[in-house]
Amino acid sequence: MPARCRVCGKSAVVRIPYARMWLCSDHLTAYLGKRVGETIDRYHLLSGGDRVLVMVSGGKDSASMAGILSALASKRGFEAALLHIDLGVGEFSALSRAAAEELSKRINLPLLVVPLREAIGADLPRLIKSVRRRSPCATCGVVKRYVANVAALRLGFDAVAVGHTLVDLASFALKGYITRSEEPLEAATPKNPGLSGLFVDRIKPLAEVGEVETRAYVKYAEIPWTDAVCEYKPVRTIDVEIRDFVSKLERDYPSLLVSMMRGVYARAPKTQREGVGKCSVCGAPTNTDVCAFCRITSRALGESGAPALHEFLEEKREVLA
Ligand code: AMP
Ligand code: FES
Ligand code: ZN
Ligand code: ZN
Repeated sequence: MPARCRVCGKSAVVRIPYARMWLCSDHLTAYLGKRVGETIDRYHLLSGGDRVLVMVSGGKDSASMAGILSALASKRGFEAALLHIDLGVGEFSALSRAAAEELSKRINLPLLVVPLREAIGADLPRLIKSVRRRSPCATCGVVKRYVANVAALRLGFDAVAVGHTLVDLASFALKGYITRSEEPLEAATPKNPGLSGLFVDRIKPLAEVGEVETRAYVKYAEIPWTDAVCEYKPVRTIDVEIRDFVSKLERDYPSLLVSMMRGVYARAPKTQREGVGKCSVCGAPTNTDVCAFCRITSRALGESGAPALHEFLEEKREVLA
């Protein structure tokens, strides 16, 4: 006999591992809205009147986050808009950008696209070629975080939301313990608080949502997304091994993973924002004389990409006004 929805008794489409219950497509959407709402309250992610810039990669997790936040926005009195960074990585980026554009139409939220080539004069492959000391993904991470933060600050947003799920955060935490480094542990929290005028809050509304749920949500809520994979994605590294292990835990012991992460959040090192200096080139907060974004872009372009980015954002100001 087919499984029945725990709430209404109609035929079910998904089993929520954490709650051990089957739900129909309507009640899956209601469940995720409630779960994300509880995460927002538990970790103080957003308040009424806030403006949140939702980072959409084109993938299923950030597309789910955007769909869920768009439904919660009017109920909770916050404002949401989408940001996609077109990295210029061949077909992967073309498909990702198209998915973000479709998503914006589907969920009726404005979208700002920042194509790196147009905004700073170089795409990601060019930046990667001129930076040998970092892995491609590390260079990409610096650029994405910088662009998101500057866009949020310049365009009047209080927070940037990223689509990291429970499995992502648990993988960061485990990596932090295994490699005994603080950076992944800091990333493994639902919120990295900002600092007035320098950083906006970085929040993870899917911190307690699993990938079984996001996969089902994009399917049944008809949310556009792409499963295109970036050509720089590493095939076998410690990160991949850790993720495989955490995914297995999620599948076999879902409630254990949530309670483990609540313990991690309570003990995680606090994001240290006070006392940071300013980049001598662009003025962004940094612990070194010149920030990583200015160093990376100067190496590729002969000058920092920051002024061009600021100008690009100024020209696009009305897109998210
Ligand atoms: P990743 O680091 O690729 O796992 O992505 C983590 C999160 O960063 C995603 O869930 C998105 O919220 C955001 N993100 C990644 N790539 C992009 C992009 N090209 N444009 C905007 N946001 C992105
Ligand atoms: Fe960042 Fe591919 S998406 S390196
Ligand atoms: Zn139902
Ligand atoms: Zn700088």
